[in-house]
Amino acid sequence: MLDATDPRDEGERLGLDELRALQRERLRASLRHAYAHVPFYRAAFDKAGVHPDDCRELADLARFPFTTKSDLRENYPYGMFAVPRERVRRIHASSGTTGRPTVVGYTESDLSLWADLVARSIRAAGGRPGDTVHVAYGYGLFTGGLGAHYGAERLGCTVVPASGGMTSRQVQLIQDLKPGIIMVTPSYMLTLLDEFERQGVDPRGTSLRVGIFGAEPWTEAMRREIEERFAIDAVDIYGLSEVIGPGVAQECVETKDGLHIWEDHFYPEIVDPLTGEVLPEGEEGELVFTSLTKEAMPVIRYRTRDLTRLLPGTARVFRRMRKVTGRSDDMVILRGVNLFPTQIEEIVLRTPGVAPHFQLRLTREGRLDALTVRAEARPDATPEDRDTAARAIAAAVKDGVGVSVAVEVVDPESLERSVGKIRRIVDLRPRG
Ligand code: DLL
Repeated sequence: MLDATDPRDEGERLGLDELRALQRERLRASLRHAYAHVPFYRAAFDKAGVHPDDCRELADLARFPFTTKSDLRENYPYGMFAVPRERVRRIHASSGTTGRPTVVGYTESDLSLWADLVARSIRAAGGRPGDTVHVAYGYGLFTGGLGAHYGAERLGCTVVPASGGMTSRQVQLIQDLKPGIIMVTPSYMLTLLDEFERQGVDPRGTSLRVGIFGAEPWTEAMRREIEERFAIDAVDIYGLSEVIGPGVAQECVETKDGLHIWEDHFYPEIVDPLTGEVLPEGEEGELVFTSLTKEAMPVIRYRTRDLTRLLPGTARVFRRMRKVTGRSDDMVILRGVNLFPTQIEEIVLRTPGVAPHFQLRLTREGRLDALTVRAEARPDATPEDRDTAARAIAAAVKDGVGVSVAVEVVDPESLERSVGKIRRIVDLRPRG
């Protein structure tokens, strides 16, 4: 019998040995499923000279080939599916900005698993049956809205499917329907913050107690900003459509120390992004996932491009991943120095006189790339405050990241606002 006050489900109560045994068994089954039903995997395993039966221990997974986003694109739309199309109940697509989208599919049981894992995530964030959950992730092909929605329903919550946009109405709905929980991108939460202030409503005085933020990288500095301005607990949710959607990993509200990966369903590895070699626990590298129980679209060693590290479990038996520093795709290489937007976020958020809104502009000057950090002044900042802030940001980037950047402190409300995933980098370099 489960104890009603314990927020963990049966999967979360496994001991470490039981968990590893379950993973071994599920991993073998998932490899067999992919090999038997997806010609792409059969060809890839054959080419690498490996067979599902070669996987006896979890470490044997390292012998299997990686799967990349371009493999998914090349097999667009249904080539990666392991079940007949008639068994696929829903399609989502990942947010690619260029080229063909990548399509993902779910059987009935995949959808049920996904709802269970999002329910588990909301519980870990402090949500309970009977809570009202305001979902401001976009609904549609993006997995955020529907993923959060069915998970909150599965937990027994009242869901407000607000989706993204129509910001003034969102504030109204929060005022009137009094949700305890909001699920939204951290950047859109800042857009909501502006709107609360514009309407003269105290954002610290709402019914909200927990925010479950994800779909884009965000920092500890952003957590402090949001927690302070809204008087809520802010926790991180991670996921990607190729693996299932939101609810692959979740931070527990009681520890806020990184995200527990729901390892009973998704097996994580960290690899060196250049060599592909598996790195020891604790080292930073690229996160790779193998699905253990998915039917419609199993993924074997899928390269996420997200950079993080694995740490032992704390509030749960499952291993944690550190907050994602960034995607290798978002890394800017400036005169040989690697820079992530999250590093700039930390700096902008601790600088007095500027608001938490910023953008990075990449240009080319002669043969060299140049970066301009554009940060918004707070409404009450004087011209001197703006100058001081610009100098402080430039000095902190030089000190902390090791590279010179230009800084412009621009007028309040002049930078584009997010309604979903924010675009931090504006690349103005000539193509080719
Ligand atoms: O963003 C799924 C999601 C929706 C996660 C809502 C959390 C909340 P995609 O559109 O496929 O799926 O984008 C996946 O977004 O590989 C990361 O680069 C990034 N990402 C997602 N969650 C986080 C997070 C959804 N908590 C890509 N921190 C991933 C940092 C994140 N990056």
